[in-house]
Formats: sequence, structure tokens, C-alpha cells
Amino acid sequence: MIGTSVVSTPTRVGNAALVEEIKALKRERNAVLLAHYYQTPDIQELADVVGDSLALAQAADRTGADTILFAGVHFMAETAKILNPGRKVLVPDPHAGCSLADSTPAEAFADLLRRHPDHLVVSYINCSAAVKAMSDIICTSSNAVRVVNSLPKDRRIIFAPDKHLGAYVQRVTGRDLMLWDGVCEVHVDISIDKLRLLMGKYPDARLIAHPECPQHILDEADHVGSTASLLEFVQRDNGQRFIVATEVGILHRMRAAVPQKELIPAPVHADNACACSECPYMKLNTLEKVRDALRDGCPEVVLPENVRLGAERALRRMLALG
Ligand code: 13P
Ligand code: SF4
Repeated sequence: MIGTSVVSTPTRVGNAALVEEIKALKRERNAVLLAHYYQTPDIQELADVVGDSLALAQAADRTGADTILFAGVHFMAETAKILNPGRKVLVPDPHAGCSLADSTPAEAFADLLRRHPDHLVVSYINCSAAVKAMSDIICTSSNAVRVVNSLPKDRRIIFAPDKHLGAYVQRVTGRDLMLWDGVCEVHVDISIDKLRLLMGKYPDARLIAHPECPQHILDEADHVGSTASLLEFVQRDNGQRFIVATEVGILHRMRAAVPQKELIPAPVHADNACACSECPYMKLNTLEKVRDALRDGCPEVVLPENVRLGAERALRRMLALG
């Protein structure tokens, strides 16, 4: 079955007492709650800032809070800690990983860099602090093109870990990048065959896609961009129907922003409950775990200072680009 119906973003029944408990704990701990667009609606609604990876890194850099509770995945909370060695950084679930970060063990990456000492190293923010520390500059999906364009034309570049984002950047910039062989397991699970059937059924629909999708999907898209860019596009474009090729969590904000427009999540290969793409790591976080982390002051992100310093240097180069 293809995902031809308009599927609602999964919503949990709000627990008013739990929400009040979290708000009180946030005040008590002088904590800020940062949440990615892929978090469940209940967590997004409670967050002080909801954004894409770049906006959340910038928010973490700006915050004056004593505690940062990061509702996203582990590399995002690590990024917050890299920028805030003096603040406590908590995660709701320490097992919230990422297939891209997992595809890049530090030793294997170090080995590649040893074999190519003449290359500059651009790492997508979806990687460990250890990999960031070995990189010259970090990028996110919203500034990857800008970051690569900022590098001297005569230098060769290693781009890791997302080969689909890297190939997209290569097509846009015309630069020849050496790509690490990593993928986002969520975006590669979107089915081009089911997508084409859906586009046949709704010929007026605009296809919008995250650059972690493989090229065969990006080639069909009317707009390619980060989660924040996709959200901005549905607001500014005069289309009335959009097929959204990214993790389904973004539809919560989109529906609030354009309630009159029809938003259809792109279908995945497997027939899951919503017939849409869900990141299993992002969805490990729950309101209960948010409460527990604030109440207990753990799980906490801790980094060796030498790794943190190296990663901060590469991250701040990205942040300086604006
Ligand atoms: P952005 O937040 O840059 O859109 O990336 C999406 C993602 O997969 C985060 O893990
Ligand atoms: Fe990683 Fe993909 Fe999940 Fe983002 S959506 S956290 S890239 S597995």
C-alpha cells in the first residue's frame, strides 16, 4: 500500500501534570530545552527553541542557562557541550544515536586522513566529537554548500559522513569531493517507486526533500533543503499540496504554519504504521525522560577536554560563516 492518505503526525495525549512538573523543574534548574523538528509534538510544544541542527547549535552557543537539555540525538547534545564546557548538558536518552555518526568510527576516519594529508576535511555535524576534532570545518544541511564554497578552490576536500549530502553539494558547487560512505537510514528508506505513484496521483503536488535523500529523489524535487528550509518553503511557495521527503516530525510545525495546505509525508519501503519515515533514535525521547533528566541531572554529556577543544575549533569556523 502506498502512503496516499494524509497521515497525522503521531501525537501523544498531553499529560498536564507532567508538563507542569517539567516547567517547574526547568525554572528550578535554570534550564533551556532545545528540540529538533524531528521530536514528537509534545516535546516540541514544551521546548524553548525548536529548530534544525544549525539553529539549535546557534541557540546552544547563545544560551545563558545553567543547564541545556537537548531533545534530539547524541551528536546534537555533544555539539552543545562542545560550545558550552561550563554548562551542564543533559539528554533524555543516551541511546539516541544516528546512523551517520555510527558510520564514522574515529579510528577509521583517522586512517583515511593519514592517507590523504593534503585534503581539507569538511564534516557534517552528524558525527562524533572525536570526528569533529579531526575536521577543518563542520557543516549542517543548511550551510554545506556555503561551507564548501568558502574553501580555497585549489584544495582537495574530504566530505564525511553523508555520501548523499556530499554528492548533492558536489553537484551544486562543482567541487570534486572525496565522500565517506555513510547514509541516513531514515532518508534512504524513502521509496522512489511509491513516491512516483503518489506524484502521479497528485500531479499538482510539489515534492520537497532533505539533502540526506539519495539523488534519485532529489532529482525529482521542486525544492531541496534542511528541515528549516523545507518549513520556510511551504510558507512562501504558492502551491497548495506538498509531498514532504524527510522525517515526519517536521509536519507538526508545518501544519501549524500552513493549516490550509495539504502536506503528505513521503512513503517508505516498509509498510509501517504511518507509512512515513520516522527516525527511531529521535523517537526514543519522551516527556517522561525529559522530566527524569531534569529531575536527576543525568544522563549528562561529558567530553575529554582535548577532544572538545579540537571539535570547538572546527565548529566555530562554521558558526563564523553565519
Ligand atoms: P537538519 O536539522 O540540518 O535539517 O538535518 C536533519 C537531520 O537529519 C538531523 O539529524
Ligand atoms: Fe541520524 Fe537520519 Fe535520524 Fe537524522 S534522521 S538523527 S541523520 S538517523
